[in-house]
Amino acid sequence: MRTKYAAGNWKMNLTFEEGQILFSEVTNMVKDEVVNPNVKVVMGVPAPYLSSFSKLINTDKVSIAAQNCHPEASGAFTGEMSVGMLASAGVDHIIIGHSERREYFNESDEFIAAKVNAILAGGLTPIFCCGETLEQREAGIHFDFVKGQLTKGLFQLSAEELQKVVIAYEPIWAIGTGVTASSDQAQEMHKALRAHLASKYGADVAANISILYGGSVKPGNAGELFAQPDIDGGLVGGASLDSRGFTDIAKAFP
Ligand code: G3H
Repeated sequence: MRTKYAAGNWKMNLTFEEGQILFSEVTNMVKDEVVNPNVKVVMGVPAPYLSSFSKLINTDKVSIAAQNCHPEASGAFTGEMSVGMLASAGVDHIIIGHSERREYFNESDEFIAAKVNAILAGGLTPIFCCGETLEQREAGIHFDFVKGQLTKGLFQLSAEELQKVVIAYEPIWAIGTGVTASSDQAQEMHKALRAHLASKYGADVAANISILYGGSVKPGNAGELFAQPDIDGGLVGGASLDSRGFTDIAKAFP
């Protein structure tokens, strides 16, 4: 059975003190309440908080994620963080390829592929984001576009490596807008992405890859999304900033 994920992406929000309270509340709720044992709860917190917050984890159901990394191991890259540095701060997952980084920081598919390679070489788990714009969906090219993102970002991997990757499909038109893809729209894309993985790696390998949905996931819609056969959880932005709501999302798996 594939690992299910409730992954939060706090983005550039909250002070250290506010974050500390939220992180502790979520870890305690997840530890004390009934959450499906096959669900991993991951919180993607701002970089300056990673080392400190990783020490607050009191259950193996919770992990901490960075929101970015650099592909090189070290060197003259002012302001950047290597995978080794993040690992030494207690991080085990790294979100990469988010549409905000692709758009605002001009990150190319090649650069993101290099990050995937570096994360796997460092023994951590990449959460690889992909997704189309509204214009691409309206033009009917969304399946080909997102499949292309997978080809360019992941198809350099061996089958063994690919199975260590988590994919997050996030239609850009649904991020932070309050407009969620319907469970049918999301399932349709997830199924197409799994078939695309199967076309290169075979159905058995593709069946092992967790594919998360992101884009206005809330406690009220998580249950229906997570009940879809190819949706293995969510990458949650705004709703991950509320401990009760985010924990309820983690409890929304069938
Ligand atoms: O990484 C998370 C996504 O960008 C979704 O954000 O839940 O605020 O729409 P959102």
